Amino acid sequence: MARPHEFVIVGTGGIADIHALDITKLTGRAEIVAAVDTDPERLSAFTKKWSVPRSYADVTTMLDAESPDVVDVCTPPALHAAQARACMERGLTVLCEKPPTLSLAELDELAALESAGTGRFAAVVQHRFGSGARKLRSLVADARLGPPTVAVCNTLWFRPDEYFAVPWRGKWEIEGGGPTLGHGIHQMDLMLSILGPWHRVVAVADRQARPTDTEDVSAAIVTFDNGAVATVVNSLLSPRETSYLRFDFARATVELEHLYGYGDGDWRITPVPGHEDTATAAWNEGPAGLPSGHAAQLSAVLDALDEGGAPPVPVAQIRPTMDLVTAIYASAFTGRPVCAGEIGPESAFYRRLDGTGAPWLTTEEERL
Ligand SMILES: NC(=O)c1ccc[n+]([C@@H]2O[C@H](COP(=O)([O-])OP(=O)(O)OC[C@H]3O[C@@H](n4cnc5c(N)ncnc54)[C@H](O)[C@@H]3O)[C@@H](O)[C@H]2O)c1
Repeated sequence: MARPHEFVIVGTGGIADIHALDITKLTGRAEIVAAVDTDPERLSAFTKKWSVPRSYADVTTMLDAESPDVVDVCTPPALHAAQARACMERGLTVLCEKPPTLSLAELDELAALESAGTGRFAAVVQHRFGSGARKLRSLVADARLGPPTVAVCNTLWFRPDEYFAVPWRGKWEIEGGGPTLGHGIHQMDLMLSILGPWHRVVAVADRQARPTDTEDVSAAIVTFDNGAVATVVNSLLSPRETSYLRFDFARATVELEHLYGYGDGDWRITPVPGHEDTATAAWNEGPAGLPSGHAAQLSAVLDALDEGGAPPVPVAQIRPTMDLVTAIYASAFTGRPVCAGEIGPESAFYRRLDGTGAPWLTTEEERL
C-alpha cells in the first residue's frame, strides 16, 4: 500500500479542527506531519489534540524544514494568497480554505505560478463534492430533465454582532468582503459548477445592521451562457437560516435546502406532470450516499494525488466564482451591469472587492 500523503496545516483555528478530524478519519491515506500558527497556545493545543509531531511559528521556517505533499492553508482570508504563493514557489501543492484569495489580482498571480508549473493550488469548496451535486452535474445536459431555465441561490444566514469581534472579520483588507465573498461563495460556486459559464450580473449590496465595513447583504440577478437566469441573495441578517438552491429545468425542478452541509435527503425533485417516470428515473441513477463536506473534498484531493493529477478545485475552476463575486460588488457599487471576464487589471475591483470604496463608508478614514 502507498504511504499516506503528508499534510502540513497552516492556521490551527476553528476550521483546522474539521480538516484534522477528516484527515484522521482517512486512516492510512493522509497524515498531519506538522502545523503552523503564530499563536503558540493554539498551536500547542492543536498539535496535542491531533498528535502532530512538529510545529512552527511561521510558514517560511516550516518550508525550510518540511516538504509535505499538501500544505493545507486554514488561516484568515488576507493571508491565503501570500502563504499559497510561498508554498507554490517551493513547488508544493496547496489546499486553501475559502475564499481562495481576496481578489482576482491575487488569484491570477497563483494562476501564473500554476501555468509555469511552479506548484499547484486547490480551493476548498466542499459542497461541490456531495453525491447530490455530482449527480445533478451529470444530468444538466440530460434530455430527461431538459435545459435549465431559472435558478435561485440563497445564502440566508444569521451572524450576530458578536461574530465580528474576531479581529479579521468585517474588514475589506483582511476578510476581503462580507457574505458575498465569505459565505455565499459556497452556494454560488455550487450553482456555477452545475449551470456552467455565467454571462452578466446586476446587483445591489448594503450594510444594514452589522458593525462591519463590508456589506451584510447583497442581491443579484445573473444570466448564464445557456440562457438560464438566477437570483442570488447573500445575507447575514436572516434569523431563519437556510442555504437554498433551486434549478428549474424544462421537465423538472430540482431543489437543495440545507445549512452548512447536505446529504441526499436534502435534495428534492418535482417533475412536470407527464414526465414523472423519466425525470425520477434520471434522478435515481448515479452517485448516492456521499454527504457534502470537507471529508468529501479531501477524498477527491487524495484520489487525484494517488493518480498523480492536480487536486480539485484548481484556479481555472474557481476563477469564474471569484469573477462573479467580484462582479456583484462592481455592479452594486457602480450601479451598472457587469459581464463575465470584464474585470481586468484596469478595474479598481480587480485588486480590492470594494473597488474605489463601499458607498456606505463616506470618509477616507473609514475606507482604510
Ligand atoms: N469551508 C468552510 O466551510 C469554512 C468554514 C469556516 C471557515 N472557513 C475559512 O477558514 C479560514 C479560517 O477560518 P477560522 O474560522 O478557522 O479562523 P480562526 O480565526 O479560528 O483561525 C485562524 C488561525 O490562523 C492563525 N494565524 C493567523 N495568522 C497566521 C499566520 N501568519 N500564520 C499561521 N497562522 C496564523 C490564527 O492564530 C488562528 O489560529 C478562513 O478563510 C475562513 O473563511 C471555511
